[in-house]
Amino acid sequence: MKQAKFLSFEGIDGCGKSTQAKMLNQHYLDQGKDVVFSREPGGSPGAEAIRGLLLTGNTDKWTAETELLLFTAARRDHLETTIEPALASGKMVICDRFADSTRVYQGATRGDLRSKVDLLHTTMIGREPDLTIIIDVEPEVALKRGLARNTGEDRFEDFGLKFQESLRVGFLKLAEEYPLRCQLVDGNRPTEEVFKDVLALAQL
Ligand SMILES: Nc1ncnc2c1ncn2[C@@H]1O[C@H](COP(=O)(O)OP(=O)(O)OP(=O)(O)O)[C@@H](O)[C@H]1O
Ligand SMILES: [Mg+2]
Repeated sequence: MKQAKFLSFEGIDGCGKSTQAKMLNQHYLDQGKDVVFSREPGGSPGAEAIRGLLLTGNTDKWTAETELLLFTAARRDHLETTIEPALASGKMVICDRFADSTRVYQGATRGDLRSKVDLLHTTMIGREPDLTIIIDVEPEVALKRGLARNTGEDRFEDFGLKFQESLRVGFLKLAEEYPLRCQLVDGNRPTEEVFKDVLALAQL
């Protein structure tokens, strides 16, 4: 059985990405595997500095275009300094969000931005995970889960329920667009049940 080397977790705010990504990371660590756990925006010192600019403050802090450039800059730094070196040295990489979040979020804020997202991705990133697990959850459930944490990084949750609903549709469409790479998991279930599906998918 082949194992995915570069895995990403995606889905709307509060769906359980970080929970599942950490569980998978721990599972591999327990097996003695060499695994790097990372997240976006962030995952490298430069990208973590950009994260603060993106996730805190008012919803109208950036135009959709500026936001896209900041996300792409952060991702490029993350790729150069964390992901590529890890993969090159034979490690696995588990990433809590990656380029699909940009496709869906920036597409949801402004539908016509998707072609610019794709253009920037092709020229500046040019890499996809081997496997992307999309955790699909009802927006009401996810919003409650997310806001209950009170992290202060809730700029996107502040866009509201309608926005989360459009994100959900965006992720479902993405799963259709990339049927091999993107796999949907029903996240409206207890954590351990969701994880069983995650584990089964991680074996390509
Ligand atoms: N299957 C589940 N059932 C119930 N609660 C859950 C489940 N999965 C995660 N949670 C809880 O919901 C909250 C949000 O989960 P988590 O932080 O993993 O979501 P996330 O998708 O990473 O959110 P964000 O997009 O904001 O980073 C956490 O408090 C977590 O413990
Ligand atoms: Mg998270």
